[in-house]
Amino acid sequence: MYAQQIKTDARRLKTLEEMDDQERAFQERVDADIKIEAKDWMPDGYRKTLIRQISQHAHSEIVGQLPEANWISRAPTLERKAILLAKVQDEAGHGLYLYCAAETLGISRDQMLAQLHSGKAKYSSIFNYPTLTWADVGMIGWLVDGAAIMNQVPLQRCSYGPYSRAMIRVCKEESFHQRQGYDALITLCHKGTAAQKAMAQDALDRWWWPSLMMFGPPDGESIHSAQSMAWKIKQNSNDELRQKFVDQTVPQADYLGLTIPDPDLKWNDAKGGYDFGEIDWDEFHRVLRGDGPCNKQRLDDRVTAWEDGAWYREGLMAHAEKKAARRAAAAA
Ligand code: 3HC
Repeated sequence: MYAQQIKTDARRLKTLEEMDDQERAFQERVDADIKIEAKDWMPDGYRKTLIRQISQHAHSEIVGQLPEANWISRAPTLERKAILLAKVQDEAGHGLYLYCAAETLGISRDQMLAQLHSGKAKYSSIFNYPTLTWADVGMIGWLVDGAAIMNQVPLQRCSYGPYSRAMIRVCKEESFHQRQGYDALITLCHKGTAAQKAMAQDALDRWWWPSLMMFGPPDGESIHSAQSMAWKIKQNSNDELRQKFVDQTVPQADYLGLTIPDPDLKWNDAKGGYDFGEIDWDEFHRVLRGDGPCNKQRLDDRVTAWEDGAWYREGLMAHAEKKAARRAAAAA
């Protein structure tokens, strides 16, 4: 169905008639909602798009641990510390499911990590912002994980089987992440002091706009969306998901008694959703170019963790080799 549409970025998608037999059979399978599996034939572009998106997604989960890790040792109660520890560990698990899904497409984990460490691979812009106060941890759960869920629920229906199955597991845990963040903010806003509520408002002021940027550039500038939607890798456009996120989040802010920092935010009866102000796309592109508040620190931390872990990886390899040699000797 989508294959017959015209790309919004002026590059035309091939019609079914223009495809060769193999490609047409592939597209018809996608159109019929039959999952594509690792051993099936797929167009090169489909494989490359998936590797790009899944590896960027995996990197986001791994780098995404860093802003919150900053608060594990300073969580206000034992309970909050245990919750935060569990959440940050979940993010590592999500990264691993996703690296495994990408590996089924013919790229190794070492290659993906090398791309991250060299700065060639992207990860989500949101993780280049600092976590200045405890309220930022709540804000990440509520807004960042909330935006991630909005984007990831449709990915459970992605046409590529291994990615879609990884997303089913990720989404189950992600909803706990969102709820723990909102719960921490309810405590600050409903049971806290005036200073704690002001701290939550300050965090919302800093995280609101970067959270909206997570959904990617506006549809007219999204270079991959049309083809990714034709291949049912993406089910919704960037702007569609952003709008749904705003509509879902505004009443939650009202319940907290916080003000979204957007003077243009207004309910629009005709569209059945909120109108909202212009996003600062210059800031988005600056962060993507590596010039956000924490890009350098995030990448340095990942590279250091990789280098510090070399002895452990070597130990694991030596152990595996020893075990394999013992097994071979016993079999001989
Ligand atoms: N941050 C960094 N790069 C972004 C971005 C963002 N917020 N939004 C878009 N981009 C990049 C794209 O990757 C693409 O770059 P490339 O061509 O060099 O690869 C370019 O900007 C153009 O954007 P498009 O809209 O054309 O790109 P996509 O069609 O890939 O859409 C996307 C972008 C919506 C992010 C899509 O890739 C996607 O759905 N990815 C999977 C989900 C994901 O990666 N989420 C990241 C957050 S995960 C998270 O928050 C986990 C939490 O639990 C910690």
